[in-house]
Formats: sequence, C-alpha cells, structure tokens
Amino acid sequence: MCGIVGYVGSRNAAPIIVDGLRKLEYRGYDSAGIAIHDGKGIEIVRALGKLVKLSDALEKRPLNGTTGIGHTRWATHGRPSEVNAHPHAAGPVAVVHNGIIENHVAVRAELEGQGIKFLSDTDTEIIAHLIHRELDQGAPNLFEAVRKALGRVVGAYAIAVVSRAEPDVVVAARFGSPLVVGIGEDEMLCGSDVTALLSHTRNMVFLEDGDVVELKQNGYRIETVNGTAVDRKVKRIDWSAVQAEKAGFKHFMLKEIHEQPDAIEATLRGRIDLQNGDVHAGEMGVTPEFAKTLGRVYFVACGTSHHATIAGRYWIEKIARVPSVTELASEVRYRDPIFFPNDLVVAVSQSGETADTIAAVKAAKAAGAQVLALSNVLDSALPRMADGALYTHAGPEIGVASTKCFTTQLAALLLLAIYLGRQRGALSKEQGQEILQALWETPSHMREVLGDADYMHVIAKKLTHAKDVLFLGRGLGFPIALEGALKLKEISYAHAEGYAAGEMKHGPIALIDENLPVFVICPRDSHYDKTLSNMQEVRAREGQVIAIATKGDEAVMELAQHMVWLPKVNDDVLPLLTVLPLQLISYYVANLKGNDVDQPRNLAKTVTVE
Ligand code: AGP
Repeated sequence: MCGIVGYVGSRNAAPIIVDGLRKLEYRGYDSAGIAIHDGKGIEIVRALGKLVKLSDALEKRPLNGTTGIGHTRWATHGRPSEVNAHPHAAGPVAVVHNGIIENHVAVRAELEGQGIKFLSDTDTEIIAHLIHRELDQGAPNLFEAVRKALGRVVGAYAIAVVSRAEPDVVVAARFGSPLVVGIGEDEMLCGSDVTALLSHTRNMVFLEDGDVVELKQNGYRIETVNGTAVDRKVKRIDWSAVQAEKAGFKHFMLKEIHEQPDAIEATLRGRIDLQNGDVHAGEMGVTPEFAKTLGRVYFVACGTSHHATIAGRYWIEKIARVPSVTELASEVRYRDPIFFPNDLVVAVSQSGETADTIAAVKAAKAAGAQVLALSNVLDSALPRMADGALYTHAGPEIGVASTKCFTTQLAALLLLAIYLGRQRGALSKEQGQEILQALWETPSHMREVLGDADYMHVIAKKLTHAKDVLFLGRGLGFPIALEGALKLKEISYAHAEGYAAGEMKHGPIALIDENLPVFVICPRDSHYDKTLSNMQEVRAREGQVIAIATKGDEAVMELAQHMVWLPKVNDDVLPLLTVLPLQLISYYVANLKGNDVDQPRNLAKTVTVE
C-alpha cells in the first residue's frame, strides 16, 4: 500500500503534492518522492524515510512547475532505499505506482533482452519502460501510451504519469488499487484517497478498475484500457479532514477491519497456481528439496501473531503432514530450546521488529535451523535475519489492535501449508485446487460477513457492562477463541478468556452462570458435534451463548441467545471468517465505552523491548 498524488493547474505543484502526501502517509512511509515538470523537463527529488526527509530535500533543491506527481511508499518489491523510491523514470516519462505487478519478472526479462537497463529492484519500473517504449513506437500522446502499456501489465495498480513532451498533462489509471480524481477550479488532481485532495476540492470522481484518465488544467477525459470512452459520476464529499483520513470510518481499527477482503487479495496476488493446485514459493527460500526433507515446522511469535501460528500448526500437520509446534517467542528465548538443522523455524510478526521474536530467531539460527520470516513490513529486522521471507502485503496497520494483519497472516500460513503439502506429495493437485479455490473466494465471503456489521453493534450493546467474557472454539476455532478474547480485552478492557472448547470441563465451566456471556465458535466443520455439546453444557448452566455458526443451523439457533451467521465454506478457510464478527464486536464494545480504540492504554503497536 502506497500513496500517490497528481496535480495539474496554475499553482506551484510541489507544495500541493507534498501536502497531499502528508495526508496519505498512513499508507506507507518507507520513502517519498516527487516529479515536477518545470516547463523544460521533468525534475525528480526522492528521499529515503518519512515525508519530512523529502521536505528537507525540497528545501535544498526547490522544484517549480505547475504539473507533477508524488508518492509515499510502503515497500513491497525492493527494499526501502532512495533508488527504489518513486517516481521511476524511463526516457521522457516518470511514474508513481501503488499496487503489485504480478508479471513484472517476465516483463523485466523481456525488456532487459531488448537492452533496457533497470535502475531499481521495483516492479514499478517496468511500467515506466513500457510507456516509454509505446511512445518510441509511435503512440501519439502520453494518454495512448499509458493505455497501451497497461495492456501488458497483470496485477494491481494505481498510477500517475508525467511526460517531458506534455508539460500540462497528468495521466492516471487504476486497476485493483484505489484512485480518486479531484475537480478543482482551474486545476485537476488525483490521489489514492479523498484525504489528499479535500483541501482543494470536494468534487470527486472515483475511478473504476480499468479506467485511464487524462488530467489537464481545465478538464479531464476517461477511457477504459481498451479505449472505450466512459463517463463517471462526480460526487460531492462532505467529510471533515479527520473523517477523510480514515476513509469516513471513526477509527483506523474499523477501517482496517473493513479493508480485510482487499488485504487478503493482496496476500494471494501472484502466489496461487490454481491450475496445478500449488503455490509459488517466491522469496520463501524453501526449496522443493528442503520442503521434502524438513523434519518439523517450528513457529515462534507473540500475541495475535502467535494465535495465527496455532492455525498454522493445524494446517501444516493436516495439509503438509509435517510435525509442527508453536511456541510463544517470549518463552522460547528464556528456555533452552532444542532446534534441529532440518527444522523450518517460521517467525511470524506483523512488524518484523518484535524483540522476543527476534531473540527466538537468533537461538534458532545459532542451532543451524533454517528460518522463514512471515511479516508485513518489507525488510524489517526479521526478514533481514531470516533465510527467506513471506510477506503478507496487508499495508500499514495503524490501530494497535491487529485485525487485517492477523487474517493476512492466516492466508499466508495456509499458502505455506499448501506449498509444503504439494512438494511433499501429501496433498494432491485436486485437494490443493479445492483449498486454493476456497481461499480465492474468501474475500467475497468476508465482504458478506462484514456486511452484517450493524448486527454486531446490536450484540456489542448487550456486552458493554460485561466484566468477564468467555470464548470457546475447537480445532481452527481455538485460535479464534484466543484472538476474540485478546481483541476484547485489549481495547474494551473487559476480562476475557479464550479456551479450547474441550477444556471447558477442566475448569472454566465453574465460571458459568446467567451473567457470563460465552462466545461459541461453532461452524459446521469437522468439530461441529463436539462443540455443539459444549454449547449445551453452557446453556444447562444458564450461560448466555453468542454463537458464530453456519447460516441456517437450527440446532444452534435453539441454544443461542444471539446468532452470527457465516456462509458455508471449506473448513480450512473458516478462521478467516469466524474472527470477523469478534473483531467487530470488540470494536463496538470499546467504542460504546468511549475508549481510545486505536491507541488502547498501556499498549504499543511494535514491542521492541522485552
Ligand atoms: C494484537 O492486537 C497486538 N497488537 C499484539 O498482540 C501483537 O500481535 C504482538 O505484539 C506481536 O506483534 P508482531 O506481530 O508485530 O510481532
């Protein structure tokens, strides 16, 4: 996730673009850059780190001109560095991009074969070269060149482009990544969201996938990539600046909850080989040979990431048939753990900077184990230490309570299990296809569940005075019970326990009375009958059951006070859905209590201390 801004008009473009980028910094802050047409040519200034570094650079080297583009980066391909910072130039054009180009390796090889030299490690640079090639091959203008070049690109993008030959034009386009056009007075803008544009105009056009737009000072035109002219409605946006930064949501956490379907799509993009029921290994560093011979998958992680690894362990054992354990990193580092050289140690961490997880990885490396880092932050400490990386590509998560980073970790872990299963021959092509198909359909099922948010609000209202809450689940429902409890306690400050439903009779059952709300994760999976019995045990003691169940389940309906319905899906993708109502309910409870949802008391987003 990156932020892009484009401007063409009569004012000096650079301050307007930098101001827009400041509003988009929540989308990434690894580097920033700007390209301005100064009437003679295109001048580019880029800087590693937050936007303030770009501002400093612009003070030393001011850029003047009325047309330009800018970018704030969340690195996905190529480490954060000035060389990988956008804009990327090729011949007369400069490009900024938000998204992931899936076929960049093949296109890059083709262009290199034609003698083109690449300066960065980014996927974006191919777009600049493709546009340049179209211009060289006779495209009449930048708009046509961009349209044609995008015909070669597979993946997700929002781009903005300027060209030396057209000092008063910005061309922009989107597919799979957001892009908004702002219609000002004697000026036109574009940006990744309305926040970047609101101080200049409230009249916006939300581009659709496949749209290419040409912006000039006094107007714009839109065509599809295929060359059909289209008309998009102009909408008036009345949000305040603060509302806009959160895309109209009250808190970042709520926004991030709703971003999950898109985030999962980003995790899956370019990794699924549906035809062969397989997964592309990418940068994982796990060769097919090692996958065949490894003796154990050993997960280390903390907090929410640890919960994801419990699901990971289930999948690895079930799908890849490899022994697997998961340990809290904070425990591993102070024990005398045993690692073997044929262990694959998988460190799962949103930030990639968690001190306990780093210490556990050091112990694993010292013992000669191979380490894979599963992280959201490119080139953070853990991926740098590890032998390979599996990035979730969820984009920055601002809310301290992890939501989209948890579900994208789940998706990535399921991909890892399928990859290992296929290499080891434990999973047939058809079985692989079945799970991958289910995973592929998950974002649309997530949208369906998130569509019931208002009902989660109703349930939350009943829980605002609850002092204790129990969460129960079996199998893949167990880590979700743990995660549901963690979400509720960290932002609503209610005491909550997550338990394996089968453990209830070994202690927590003593807590149950008419005052105890009990969430039971009870979809129609292979544990269904057993979990239903646990639900009956709760009801027999007057506990208040809130069930997360499969649509239309009458047996559950008879027992539960509140029902949250899920679509019927493949068992293996269930945790990506069952957690959604729990995230939403926790959010609403905390909000109803007036808590600081995005920055709950005593917590930090990245825990770089013991
Ligand atoms: C979860 O909502 C918390 N933010 C916390 O438990 C978090 O998952 C934990 O601190 C681990 O962080 P990491 O994924 O960045 O390593």
